[in-house]
Amino acid sequence: MRTLIEARGLTKTFGATPALRGVDLDVSTGESVAVMGPSGSGKTTLLHVLAGITRPDAGTVRLHRGAGVVDLGAAGEKRRSELRRTSFGFVFQQGLLVPELTVLENVALPLLLNGVARTDAAAEALRLLASLGIGETGERRVGELSGGQQQRVAIARAQAVRPAVVFADEPTGALDSVTSGEVMTALLASTVNSGRALIVVTHDEAVAARCGRVLRMRDGMVVAESGAPAPAAAGEQEPVR
Ligand SMILES: Nc1ncnc2c1ncn2[C@@H]1O[C@H](COP(=O)(O)OP(=O)(O)OP(=O)(O)O)[C@@H](O)[C@H]1O
Ligand SMILES: [Mg+2]
Repeated sequence: MRTLIEARGLTKTFGATPALRGVDLDVSTGESVAVMGPSGSGKTTLLHVLAGITRPDAGTVRLHRGAGVVDLGAAGEKRRSELRRTSFGFVFQQGLLVPELTVLENVALPLLLNGVARTDAAAEALRLLASLGIGETGERRVGELSGGQQQRVAIARAQAVRPAVVFADEPTGALDSVTSGEVMTALLASTVNSGRALIVVTHDEAVAARCGRVLRMRDGMVVAESGAPAPAAAGEQEPVR
């Protein structure tokens, strides 16, 4: 495990509304972190600040990449946009897929935006779809798929660029509990099991229970955290009895 994201002292106020009031968070490779809390407690804002979509009023987000450390706050818009396209994947409640495009085209889109050749992008998209058990849907339009299938397409698309971190904002919010469990299995398999980190906002305790750590937010602060980060490497620490 190595550190991917180091966030310190994050604050963000919209007008007179404080959304974040001093959040610290470290996330390492292979970790899954659930973010829970009442509506308006700052979960989405935290996700957007960590992903470089929203600039915090104060505090820092450092992203550790193979090539070094990037301070998201100090990075310009162009650099932040490049990081979002290459280091991060996103899955939302309603997949934000393009309904007029085929499944394959939706998954290939981020690769095309990153300059990958069309045939290579299509081959990679098909491989990802097959790994999520929906390879046969490639030629269909997204609008024809079930909710659970659409979320798998969104998961495939989120990992197309092999991001370090996948952010998911209520990815199972519109699904029944069985489908929700299946989508979580797919999401964990495609992130944590591949050495990526997953940060998932959810209102569902069953979804949170699948994650290694659970942060509970209230009024813009993390008020509780359960599930300690895993030790640095297996076998390094003796279990405490
Ligand atoms: N773009 C914005 N402009 C103004 N206020 C905002 C904006 N985004 C968030 N807020 C406010 O900041 C606070 C935190 O919002 P946030 O969306 O982070 O909550 P949340 O925990 O994700 O809630 P939910 O569970 O309903 O999605 C809320 O009071 C919200 O109204
Ligand atoms: Mg939200």
